[in-house]
Amino acid sequence: MYLPEINFLTANNLPEVLRINAASESPWSEAVIRSDLQENSQNEITYLGAFATVPEAPLLGYAVLGREKRVGILMSILVDKIYRRRGVGTQLLLAVGDCAAYLNMRRLRLRVRKSNAGAIALYSKLSFVGENVRRGYYSNGEDAIVMSAGLPLKLKS
Ligand SMILES: CC(C)(COP(=O)(O)OP(=O)(O)OC[C@H]1O[C@@H](n2cnc3c(N)ncnc32)[C@H](O)[C@@H]1OP(=O)(O)O)[C@@H](O)C(=O)NCCC(=O)NCCS
Repeated sequence: MYLPEINFLTANNLPEVLRINAASESPWSEAVIRSDLQENSQNEITYLGAFATVPEAPLLGYAVLGREKRVGILMSILVDKIYRRRGVGTQLLLAVGDCAAYLNMRRLRLRVRKSNAGAIALYSKLSFVGENVRRGYYSNGEDAIVMSAGLPLKLKS
C-alpha cells in the first residue's frame, strides 16, 4: 500500500495532470482541463491530486469533484498506470468524500462504464451502491451504471 499526500491541484500542476490524462484509457479534452485549472474555477469544480511523499513528489493520480445542488459528482478519478493497485485510488476517493462533506454535500454520485470492473470494485469497497442504469450513455453505446454513497465515505471491512 502507498500512503500518498493529497492536495488541491492548481494551474502549476497542469503538465503532470495532462501527462496522466493523455496516457489514460479515455482522455478528457486538454482544453477542458486547462480551463478548469487555469481559470481557477475551484468553487464549481475541485481537482484533488495524490502525490508521492518523496522529494520530487510526482503526481500519482487525481480526481475531479463537481456538484449538483447538495450532491457531489465524482467527474473523474484516474491513477497513473504504474501506480495502480497500491491504494492510491482509495485514498483519493476518501479525500474526495471528505471534501464533498466539508462542502455540505449529502451524497457522492458517479457514472461508470458497465465494463469497468476494477472501478466498480473500488466504488463497492467504499460503500457505493448502484442507483440505476443509463442505457447507451457512452459514445460507443455502452451502458453507464449510476452509483452513489452517503458521506463521509466508509471503507467496507
Ligand atoms: C479505477 C482506478 C482509479 C483505481 O485506482 P487504484 O489506485 O488502482 O485503486 P486501489 O489500489 O485503491 O484499489 C482498491 C481496490 O479496488 C479494486 N480494484 C481496483 N482496480 C481494480 C482492477 N483493475 N481490477 C479489480 N479490482 C480492482 C480492488 O478491490 C482494490 O483492492 P485490492 O488491490 O486490495 O484488491 C484506476 O484503475 C484507474 O485510474 N483506472 C482508469 C480510470 C478509470 O477507469 N476511472 C474510473 C472512471 S468511472
